[in-house]
Amino acid sequence: MTPASQKPFLLLGADGMLGRAFVELFQSQNLPFEPLSLPRFDLTRPESIRDAISPRFAAAINCAAYTDVDGAEQNQALANQINATGVGQLAIDCRIASIPLVHFSTDYVFDGAGRTPYPPAPPPAGSHPINVYGQSKLQGELLTRGVSTDHLIIRTSWLYAPWGQNFVRTITAAARSRPELKVVNDQRGRPTSAQHLAACTLALLRRNARGIYHITDGGDCTWFDLAIEIVRLVGAHCNVSPCTTADFPRPAKRPDYSVLDIGKTESELGMMPPWQSNLATVITHLEP
Ligand SMILES: NC(=O)c1ccc[n+]([C@@H]2O[C@H](COP(=O)([O-])OP(=O)(O)OC[C@H]3O[C@@H](n4cnc5c(N)ncnc54)[C@H](OP(=O)(O)O)[C@@H]3O)[C@@H](O)[C@H]2O)c1
Repeated sequence: MTPASQKPFLLLGADGMLGRAFVELFQSQNLPFEPLSLPRFDLTRPESIRDAISPRFAAAINCAAYTDVDGAEQNQALANQINATGVGQLAIDCRIASIPLVHFSTDYVFDGAGRTPYPPAPPPAGSHPINVYGQSKLQGELLTRGVSTDHLIIRTSWLYAPWGQNFVRTITAAARSRPELKVVNDQRGRPTSAQHLAACTLALLRRNARGIYHITDGGDCTWFDLAIEIVRLVGAHCNVSPCTTADFPRPAKRPDYSVLDIGKTESELGMMPPWQSNLATVITHLEP
């Protein structure tokens, strides 16, 4: 029989921003894994979930999600089907196969009204996510926790990578083509390198961690602070000035204060590197 450590990881949503970081990590460490993505793996089709899950995997790592925060306001049913119902089905199939489920969630499960970092625990009774995406992700957490204790729910925030659609690439492109940018300075959170997130997730899995954890870069900032540092690192000649969320209304509300408490993760894995250093690493590898 293959020892548990040699079983492959099942990587769901392998084509997304975080999925790609896991592909890179597994390849660099010569770890066996099987990637699955749309259309073969589809969280809206229970039979495709059932077909994907098997006891031959060390764990299922789910990077698939509906992630269009503004789009979710118009597409509530689809966001719920993918982020809640589909994830609940995934948790059930993992329980049947007796394999752990690693699932990613978000700072947006909190209401954004706090002024101290949010602990890695269920949001306080009576608080509610302020947008549809956050509600769908919270429901996915609840369903996962309700099915089995053999899960690792990892909340993260403000994800960026050298690839995919993210703030770092958007600001880099804008700063290289425009003389001026206005960026919101009244939302505070923790940026997270997808490569750092994948590596820390694997480290937690190796320690058999279970339950809710938060993984982000170290430190916190506003989007404006982050934009200033991106522009500095890419050496663009662009003047970045601060503005308010109210200056740029969007379909989905955004939390003012979105800082996740990473103390529990740091006590297991050591201090998270400051966002400025993870950002510098990612910027040196930015894809065009
Ligand atoms: N991005 C952030 O800032 C952020 C912040 C906090 C938490 N998170 C969480 O982190 C995780 C990874 O996010 P990410 O930024 O890597 O997202 P992403 O780049 O949007 O990747 C999600 C992947 O899921 C796929 N997908 C969409 N609908 C699906 C379905 N019905 N069945 C199966 N796959 C489907 C997407 O395919 P298509 O591209 O073809 O639609 C995409 O490849 C998610 O759980 C997200 O909620 C992200």
